Amino acid sequence: VNSGLIRLRPTFAQISLANLRHNIEILRALSAAPFFCPMVKANAYGHGDIEVTRVLRDCGVTHVGVALIEEGIRLRQSGDRQGILVFAPFDLARAKVLVEHDLTLVASDFAQLEALSELAPKPSRRPLLHLKFNTGMNRRGFRFTDAKKVREWIDQNPAFDFEGIATHLFQGEDAGRPHQETERQLTRLAEIAGAFDGVKLPANRPLRIHALNSAGLSNLPGHTVGARPGIAVYGAASRSAIEGRPDLKPVMSLKTAIVEFQRAQTGEGVSYGATWKVQRDSLLGILPIGYADGYNRLLSNRSSVLVQGRRAPVVGRVCMDYVMIDLTDIVSEKKQSLSVAEEVVLIGSQGDETILAEELADLVGTVSYEILTGISSRVPREYIG
Ligand SMILES: Cc1ncc(COP(=O)(O)O)c(C=O)c1O
Repeated sequence: VNSGLIRLRPTFAQISLANLRHNIEILRALSAAPFFCPMVKANAYGHGDIEVTRVLRDCGVTHVGVALIEEGIRLRQSGDRQGILVFAPFDLARAKVLVEHDLTLVASDFAQLEALSELAPKPSRRPLLHLKFNTGMNRRGFRFTDAKKVREWIDQNPAFDFEGIATHLFQGEDAGRPHQETERQLTRLAEIAGAFDGVKLPANRPLRIHALNSAGLSNLPGHTVGARPGIAVYGAASRSAIEGRPDLKPVMSLKTAIVEFQRAQTGEGVSYGATWKVQRDSLLGILPIGYADGYNRLLSNRSSVLVQGRRAPVVGRVCMDYVMIDLTDIVSEKKQSLSVAEEVVLIGSQGDETILAEELADLVGTVSYEILTGISSRVPREYIG
């Protein structure tokens, strides 16, 4: 399966649906909560939201979460008919769009509730509604102290199917340790839930209370608060959470092939600004991938790639469309020639070697989230397994 682009360039992101299924099983088994809502925002963290959501549904996942209304509509237009929580702010016009596409609203301030009061939905089409509370991150959400006031609005607006309350952890890495931020946030969430005791719920379903992101879920196995894992679904993690993380498998590999060779002489420079000086006569491989594909320019002279199961350093500046690698050691030690079309792995495994998205993230001072979501639309996604 290809994402629609004709592949004339040998650069692609390979998405392992088998690893995706594996991760979902692991994560679902970690949670003791009835509510499990993997996040597929930002094109499923770069993995392809429509394809990923299809697999999640096959795995029995009833709810997924997105950040933008546009992302929710895209999933609906792909034929998805199950729960989609949209964590975007809205006004009256946007609320109408959400309802029209049967997307679950997540309200996070009183202006949004006012817009919903004006919406006055038809009794035949009851919009699903969750409420998001700010329990410490200070991004979006009702202040946790406003729970009673929000409850009053819910009681006065029975035209909505009120389903759940949510918060977002800002330091899930400390979950499971006493007197830390996550514990404080979950205590506040429990207090908020208390304010909704006895609230009218659709079809006598229990109130869905959700908070655990990947780090929170990994650190609180068996917890009964609902989970919204994102990065872990894709088999990545923040560096601090890698140790002791569940047995997750990276879903995305980034691959290309050598398209040309250069024999550079001692003393010459490589790429813009000649930031890499050739120390010995060298064999360079030219890779058809660059920062326009999401291979960060800050990786210049820092990262390596895999060729024949060995690491080859990136030399010189990463260009918009090309990267140069030094193959001299691989060719001399293996006493073999490489040919055009030789497979190169930029993220993923080859032989016994692996380059994780976390490794590239560390090199440029960011998180694996930004590496994965940064793989641009110019890179076709190929789905296997
Ligand atoms: C509201 C919300 N829930 C859950 C997540 C998932 O977080 P993570 O990818 O760290 O698991 C995110 C992503 O940042 C989010 O914005």
